[in-house]
Amino acid sequence: ARTLTIGVIEGDGIGPELVASAVEVLDAAVAGVGHRLELVREDGGADTYRRTGEALAPGVLDRARGYDGLLKGPVGLPDVRRPDGTEAGLLGGLLRGGLDTYANVRPMRLLPGVATPTRYAPGDIDYVIVRENTEGLYLSRGVGVRNDRAAVDQLMMTRHGVERVVRHAFDLARTRRGAPVDGVSRVTCVDKSNVLRSFAFFREIFEEVAADYPDVEHDFRYADAAAHDLVASPGHFDVLVMENFLGDILSDLGAATVGGLGMCPSANVGADAAYFEPIHGSAPSLAGRDLANPVSQVLAGALLLDHAGLPAAGDAVRAAVHGAFADGAVRLADGRPEGGTRAVTAAVVERLAAG
Ligand code: IPM
Ligand code: MN
Repeated sequence: ARTLTIGVIEGDGIGPELVASAVEVLDAAVAGVGHRLELVREDGGADTYRRTGEALAPGVLDRARGYDGLLKGPVGLPDVRRPDGTEAGLLGGLLRGGLDTYANVRPMRLLPGVATPTRYAPGDIDYVIVRENTEGLYLSRGVGVRNDRAAVDQLMMTRHGVERVVRHAFDLARTRRGAPVDGVSRVTCVDKSNVLRSFAFFREIFEEVAADYPDVEHDFRYADAAAHDLVASPGHFDVLVMENFLGDILSDLGAATVGGLGMCPSANVGADAAYFEPIHGSAPSLAGRDLANPVSQVLAGALLLDHAGLPAAGDAVRAAVHGAFADGAVRLADGRPEGGTRAVTAAVVERLAAG
């Protein structure tokens, strides 16, 4: 039997209760395939910043490379701010930059029994947004300039940065079953190459990489049209790849079509480190009240298991979540689970044990 060592950052707000839920599920899933889980608590987030003046404890980046995965809860508290007024404690820049996790992988899947504002049914929405995670507009984080009359943030794309994330998208498409509507493996390039040079550069590199994957279909959407089509015809999409800021926006849009942010996990993947988190924030107003939907964090745990070489355990977690929705044990009202956070956890763990 293998011991899986995972680092855990609980995070702020609803983070600790979501992470507790995910750890319970991971424990059962790992035991279910004959292995064991060892947790190493790490410190990071807005509360860490408030206590120590730094949002991430020393040494976390080095240790993260040694873990089988790092599970991170949502972080950030609106009243904990840096001197420049930005929110302190947000770990995106520190972890994504520090670990060079260049691909932010965000699966969007509509599960049974989940209300959607579209006319689609479970099975009709099943795609992955691959968000470039280390450059684009976010490279300007903390270094934009302003005076009283104007402010400038610059966006940058590098050949290296675009190429590696596009390859990640094509490699991922090869592992999937294709788009819901036609079963065709497809990578869609989302950009604004009709207006901006940097996006034309992105598209050009996308086309070069696509030539190496003749077995995977590819197509293009301008970002505005992509927003439209993700609502109007989501079944067309299998894998989408895009610049950082576009990926931030379109992944929240996608989330709205699959039951809300509380359904959506993400993997931040680099060459020698990865971490796993919900795509949403720390919802301080819900904290400690057993109200939040833990599914995003639980599914982030499933992505961790895939990455750690235990895809059967990851599949078991996804199947248990799917089952809990399919048989009505978990129902959402306005994106929140009717029975509460812990009831969802119990329903998933019960199905894991049965499965
Ligand atoms: C996300 C989040 C972060 C981002 C925030 C918390 C900085 O919204 O992971 O999508 O904008 O990248
Ligand atoms: Mn976001």
